[in-house]
Amino acid sequence: MAYTAYEDAEHGDAHLSDKDFRRLSEWIHANIGVCMGPEKKTLMEGRVKKRMRHLKIPSFQKYCEFVFSKQGKGEEAPFLIDAVTTNKTDFFREPAHFEYLNRTALPRLASRNASSGRNTFRIWSAACSSGEEPYTLAMVLQEYVDGMSGWDYTILATDISGTVLEKAGQAVYQDETIQPIPLPLRKKYLLKSRNPGNSIVRIVPELRAKVQLRKLNLIADAFDISGEMDVIFCRNVMIYFDRVTQEKLIQKFYQHLSPGGYLFIGHAESLSNLKTPFVYMAPTIYRKDG
Ligand SMILES: C[S@@+](CC[C@H](N)C(=O)[O-])C[C@H]1O[C@@H](n2cnc3c(N)ncnc32)[C@H](O)[C@@H]1O
Repeated sequence: MAYTAYEDAEHGDAHLSDKDFRRLSEWIHANIGVCMGPEKKTLMEGRVKKRMRHLKIPSFQKYCEFVFSKQGKGEEAPFLIDAVTTNKTDFFREPAHFEYLNRTALPRLASRNASSGRNTFRIWSAACSSGEEPYTLAMVLQEYVDGMSGWDYTILATDISGTVLEKAGQAVYQDETIQPIPLPLRKKYLLKSRNPGNSIVRIVPELRAKVQLRKLNLIADAFDISGEMDVIFCRNVMIYFDRVTQEKLIQKFYQHLSPGGYLFIGHAESLSNLKTPFVYMAPTIYRKDG
């Protein structure tokens, strides 16, 4: 496809038209479940503009033509998804969840698993972004199993975005992001760059090996995940989905949890308006009966 240089953009449309915004937001909703109401138009415009600049596409209209062409659907879709999704995350984000996990959920799961002869915990960080959440879980779980002889754990970390999964795989973070990690855990589980000019850290290989990263779309009809999870963290993504999509997702989580397993959702999210069999345990923490 041939385009004129981006510098000629003043001849193109300066704003995303309502029609093109609708087409893009409908595509996003259908493919990843994220709702982009009219209030998100300026945000979409800004983010799409960056892609246009990168691709040297001179107008919003031409960008849409490209996105919806046969070639564009395959090539541009991952970039468009990256452009419109929010990847904000932190180590030990919403610390009360990790307290609850450590003090309440893991001890209960340990005695339940032990009674059925299983000495492992299976954890899933769904919508893991760049890895801070699954590596936080790995630190908490590692500390927990260190006190129990013969116990182990696995962490599945999934997201729709290849870009954040790649970052999670590198497990390299800027120094300023590690402040929420308690000092003793920093000493145990982070490696400092040998180059003093580089203010970066890396998660130790032992924890990296515990986290299995995988691309997974939460709005898929079914998840290709074998075995039951003991704990699912799905935080700060459902908030972007409509009610029907949320209900379907919660049903799927229910099926993938072991009886007595826990679901943790984001601080601004709730199951109270949804039809769900989950039992409320504490704010934003739910349990499957059994
Ligand atoms: C705000 S981050 C949340 C990260 C982490 N759970 C936390 O709470 O810190 C939301 C993540 O959801 C992912 N996401 C959005 N739609 C998704 C979908 N349909 N399937 C899987 N992941 C999705 C985004 O790529 C992004 O990384």
